[in-house]
Amino acid sequence: MKTLELAKKYHDFVVGMRREFHRNPEVSMKEFNTQKRIREELDKIGVENVPCGGTGVLATIKGTKPGLTVGLRADIDALTVVEENDKEYASAIPGVMHACGHDTHGAMLLGAARILNELRDEIKGTVKFFFQPGEEVGLGALAMIKDGALEGVDGILGVHVSSELPSGVINAEGGPRMASADMFKITITGKGGHGAHPEETIDAVVVGAATVMNLQTIVSREFSPLDPLVVTVGSLNSGTRMNVIAPTAILEGTVRYFRSDYAKPVKEAIERIMRATAEAYRATAELEYTYLIKPTFNDEKVAAIAEKAAAEVVGDKNVVKAPLTTGGEDFSEYSALIPGVMTRLGTGNAAKGTDYPHHHGKFDVDEDAFVYGSAYYAQFALDFLDSYKK
Ligand code: NI
Repeated sequence: MKTLELAKKYHDFVVGMRREFHRNPEVSMKEFNTQKRIREELDKIGVENVPCGGTGVLATIKGTKPGLTVGLRADIDALTVVEENDKEYASAIPGVMHACGHDTHGAMLLGAARILNELRDEIKGTVKFFFQPGEEVGLGALAMIKDGALEGVDGILGVHVSSELPSGVINAEGGPRMASADMFKITITGKGGHGAHPEETIDAVVVGAATVMNLQTIVSREFSPLDPLVVTVGSLNSGTRMNVIAPTAILEGTVRYFRSDYAKPVKEAIERIMRATAEAYRATAELEYTYLIKPTFNDEKVAAIAEKAAAEVVGDKNVVKAPLTTGGEDFSEYSALIPGVMTRLGTGNAAKGTDYPHHHGKFDVDEDAFVYGSAYYAQFALDFLDSYKK
């Protein structure tokens, strides 16, 4: 409970930092001022820190006793969303907004650094603080890993606020939690011509339409209904005017799944159907496929520690189960390499207007939940170092 008491002591500090970050949002991989401010705040309390992953920060607190190393991760980037709130801390940068709550993550992790800095004598090992840039573009975690942030780290915790969950509850269950976010682009090449003479052409509009329809059978006919899978064609662009047969069509889409062993076969199915469809109509098709974000799988052992730490902070009845989400999270880059757990802290409160969805112009958070977030980060670090067995 010491962590919660200390979190209360630092509550005003955390709220102040959050409002400062919120007022001054910076887009992915350009968090220059945010990085500078985080480093200044860490320097103030004597916490060793270095720039990492471009515009991120990696900070370290060594306990007085030897032991393992635990990572605590907060992402810090904002979005190109127009803020519709008129609060005094509303974004001062036109068209850019912390509409996903990453301002709160950075602030709560700074709060946790203060707490753990005071509790150095109770830390059995080392705590690494990941202030990660560029989550929204799926580049930040990889950039930090490339800079060596994960070296020697035995387990890692991520926290994301959630307007869907009631303020003050925590979800930290094990197993699959968030989906992949793959991206694909199909370029179909036919033969253009006059709309009145289809016999002289290969109509890319028709091939594109058939491809969209045939791709629907991947989910419905090739994969188990018990394992969620989404194949979405979000855009189909072809043609210039009503009486010209289009020579090309471009389809772009996204693929979401929770099982990492789906990565290869889904891509292969898209490629096979796309080629065979194009061939059936005498056209050709090319696929560009990008594995943007891996599915997020929470290690069961680490999740058990996270649930216990959460219960310590918010009480048993506020540690909740929650449905999976097909949203993607680049935390999966860490948890693909070391045991990790991506968890959610509720900040939804209809009375305070903090129940708008993430990425909405009116998104906001219940700041009263910050004490739980900071305390939970810190409590998890202590508990992990105390009880985790490799
Ligand atoms: Ni987010």
